[in-house]
Amino acid sequence: MAIPLFRPFPPPEPPLTDGIVILRLPRDADAPAIAAACGDPEIARWIPVPVPYGLEDARAFLAAAGAGWASGREPTFVIADATSRELVGAVAVHRHPDEPGKAAVGYWLAPQARGRGLATRAVRLIVRWAFGLEAGLVRMELLTLVGNEASGRVALRSGFVREGVLRRYLPFRDRLVDAVMFARLRDDEGA
Ligand SMILES: CC(C)(COP(=O)(O)OP(=O)(O)OC[C@H]1O[C@@H](n2cnc3c(N)ncnc32)[C@H](O)[C@@H]1OP(=O)(O)O)[C@@H](O)C(=O)NCCC(=O)NCCS
Repeated sequence: MAIPLFRPFPPPEPPLTDGIVILRLPRDADAPAIAAACGDPEIARWIPVPVPYGLEDARAFLAAAGAGWASGREPTFVIADATSRELVGAVAVHRHPDEPGKAAVGYWLAPQARGRGLATRAVRLIVRWAFGLEAGLVRMELLTLVGNEASGRVALRSGFVREGVLRRYLPFRDRLVDAVMFARLRDDEGA
């Protein structure tokens, strides 16, 4: 397969869902729920979000999500409960115009939404969507910080393969830290 040209992904219509979670576009009214969730120390432990995390930070997240859709570099979804429609987290695909054959997925859940497999559902939905949109996309990566066992479980349950530890690889706050590389290939079974 030739390396594809980079083009932004259009938002899915209707929204992606498996009946338990819905992935929808972020909106301004999500700011308070995002601020409440991202104030959780467990998110700050594994994702370099601002600490403390306030409403302005949530608004910056929403602006970045809008820009990410427009540029194609970071289509970002809110993960919502399909029944209550409440925001439970966020999931995004990171892409680079110079490397259109691969992408990476990232996510967080609000503390009260954890332990129910919702991140796994969201990751499965977003990966299937991205692979379905771009035939030249052959590799989806998922990087966790070493020690983030819950996220590693999400990766494995979503069909990713653990490829190994990349030493001093991820920029995290003021340094480069070790990360575990998980990847799911288009050709992997079930992709
Ligand atoms: C990562 C995250 C999305 C996972 O949420 P979740 O899917 O609800 O996760 P769960 O609580 O169901 O845990 C997933 C698995 O990890 C296990 N787990 C949870 N916490 C763990 C811990 N501290 N140590 C070891 N295993 C742990 C659970 O037992 C579960 O195992 P199972 O697959 O055998 O059932 C959530 O913990 C989170 O938002 N963390 C902070 C942000 C983050 O780390 N994002 C990912 C960055 S790569």
